[in-house]
Amino acid sequence: MKVPFVDLGAQYQAIALEINSAIQGVLEKRDFILGSDVELFEKEFANFIGTSHAVGVGSGLAALELALRAWEIGPGDEVITAANTYIATTLAIMAVGARPVLVDMDPATFNINPAAIEAAITPKTRALIPVHLCGQPADMDPILEIAAGRNLLVLEDAAQAHGSMYRGRRAGSLGHAGAFSFYPGKNLGAYGDGGLIVTNDDTLAEKLRQLRNYGQRVKYVHTTIGTNSRLDTIQAAILRVKLRHLDRWNAQRGERAAQYNALLAGAGCEVPQIAANRTHIFHLYMVLAENRAEVQKILAERGISTGIHYPIPIHLQEASASLGYRQGDFPETERAAERILSLPMYAELTESQCAYVAENLREAIRITSDSRTQGAALAR
Ligand SMILES: Cc1ncc(COP(=O)(O)O)c(C=O)c1O
Repeated sequence: MKVPFVDLGAQYQAIALEINSAIQGVLEKRDFILGSDVELFEKEFANFIGTSHAVGVGSGLAALELALRAWEIGPGDEVITAANTYIATTLAIMAVGARPVLVDMDPATFNINPAAIEAAITPKTRALIPVHLCGQPADMDPILEIAAGRNLLVLEDAAQAHGSMYRGRRAGSLGHAGAFSFYPGKNLGAYGDGGLIVTNDDTLAEKLRQLRNYGQRVKYVHTTIGTNSRLDTIQAAILRVKLRHLDRWNAQRGERAAQYNALLAGAGCEVPQIAANRTHIFHLYMVLAENRAEVQKILAERGISTGIHYPIPIHLQEASASLGYRQGDFPETERAAERILSLPMYAELTESQCAYVAENLREAIRITSDSRTQGAALAR
C-alpha cells in the first residue's frame, strides 16, 4: 500500500466540477485583480471565523508582516512568539525591522507556554504572536490576560488552524487580529499562494486594504507606503468552493486522528493530546518517536510518506544568527525537534490507510528499539 503525506489529487477529484466552474467564472469575468470573488470570499471567511473583517493578501507570511506593519511595529520593538513555529512567523517580525523574542513550547500541546511569556516581556515588547501549531489553538485566555495587563497587541498566527476553536470561538477571532495562510497543503488550501488577515478593528482593516494595494484606496491616490500583496481572484474563487467543505474535512481529519491515537496506544511513541476547551483540526498529526531517522526510513520503505515539522528550530537556523540564541536555550523545542514525526493526514485518508500507517509505525518502533537494545548489549 502507498500512503502519501497529503493527497491533493483525491481532494480535487471529489470537488472537480465545483472548482472547474469557479475558475471558469473568473475567466469569463476576467476581474483577475481584487475581483468579485475576493470580496465575496472575504465576507464568507469573516463570517466563518466570526470577525467583522477579512482582508485577502498574497501569502501567510504577508498576512503576518502587513498586520505588524499596519500597527507600526518596527525597529526598536520586540515581538514575542513561539520558538517552535515555522520560520515565517519570525521572518515577518524581522521584515518590519523588529526583534523576535522566542519562548519555549508547552510539551503537552506544542503551543507557546503562557507561563514563560511574562519573563520575556521587556519595555520594548509591543505584541505577542501565539501560533496555533498543527491546528490546535494556543491557550489564549492567559495570553490575552497578559496582553491586556501590559497593553500589548495580539496577532494570532492561525496559518495551521482554519476552523479550530478555543472555548467555542474560532482561532483567529480571539486576539486583535489573526493571520491565515492558504498554501496548497493547508486545511483550507488554494492552488497557489494566498493569505488573509481577520480582525474586528475597522481602522486596522482599512489600513490593511491600502497596504496590500500600493497604499491606495482610490486608484492612483497613494496615501501610505504600500506594497503589492493581493489575494488572487482565481485563488479566492477556489477558496470559496473549498470553504463550504472545510468543517466536514476537518471533522474527517479528527476521526483519523482519533483512530491513530487508539491504534498507537502503547506503541512507544507520544501521540497528540487535545487540551480542554479546544478543538483540534489536525493540520498536522505529529508523534514523538525515538530513533526517528530509522523509523522514518522503515516507513518510507513500506510506502508511507512522513514529514518533520520542523527539523531545525528557528533559533538554531543560520538566518536567525543575528538574534544571538544558542543550543540549549529552548529545551522543549529542541527535544521535540529531534523526535517529531508527522504522519499522513488529510480528509481523504481512509480507515485502512490509517490502520496500515499505525501498524507499520508500531513495528518500526519495535524494530528500531530492539536493534538499539542489541547494539547497547554488544557495546558492553
Ligand atoms: C505557522 C505558520 N505561519 C506562517 C506560515 C506562512 O504561510 P505562507 O507559506 O502562506 O507564507 C505558515 C505556512 O507556511 C505556517 O505554517
